[in-house]
Amino acid sequence: MTAPVPEIATRPAQQSDMPAIHDLSVRLFGPGRFARSAYRVREGTRDISDFCRVAIAGERVIAAIRMTSILIGGKPGALLLGPLAVDAEFANQGHGRRLIAEVAEHARQAGRELIVLVGDLPYYGRLGFVAVPPPRIVLPGPADPARILVLELVPGALSRFEGLVTAAPDAIAPRS
Ligand SMILES: CC(C)(COP(=O)(O)OP(=O)(O)OC[C@H]1O[C@@H](n2cnc3c(N)ncnc32)[C@H](O)[C@@H]1OP(=O)(O)O)[C@@H](O)C(=O)NCCC(=O)NCCS
Repeated sequence: MTAPVPEIATRPAQQSDMPAIHDLSVRLFGPGRFARSAYRVREGTRDISDFCRVAIAGERVIAAIRMTSILIGGKPGALLLGPLAVDAEFANQGHGRRLIAEVAEHARQAGRELIVLVGDLPYYGRLGFVAVPPPRIVLPGPADPARILVLELVPGALSRFEGLVTAAPDAIAPRS
């Protein structure tokens, strides 16, 4: 008899998930991940924000989405999405889509106006993200402008943001 397949649940990420999230990122993105814009913005920030979320099969983290509170041109109210990582064994089963929808809804309820990411329009476009005509939103690092995408959580939000993306003060990790 084969073991039953556990249902996939989602919940906010916790600090104790970090080893599993780290492991997923290493497997999916490799050492080159540190050059990615999301990592550049996140340097010096907390590992886990209130908006990070994971999908779990039993105890096992099978997908994770990192969210970082950002300023755009010094203005608060936006979040950076990334990375989103889904274990290859569980890919194309809707977990990425579900995590994005859940974090977007949470962010909207928390009064956030905009989600920014660097990613593939063919994937994120189906979830409501649109490309931003450059140079409206600028990311540190080698971000291809055509891959800078946003999701407005409030209609017209993009028109209120312009400039360089930096980590927001509430995202910065306390100095130990
Ligand atoms: C890309 C990724 C986040 C998608 O998450 P997922 O849970 O596997 O995908 P979902 O179930 O939400 O969506 C699956 C659909 O998206 C499509 N899709 C997946 N990646 C895509 C991409 N890069 N571009 C266009 N479409 C894509 C699939 O073909 C599938 O299409 P279908 O519904 O018509 O069959 C995940 O596969 C992953 O972590 N991949 C490796 C890391 C990576 O490339 N990350 C990029 C995000 S920054």
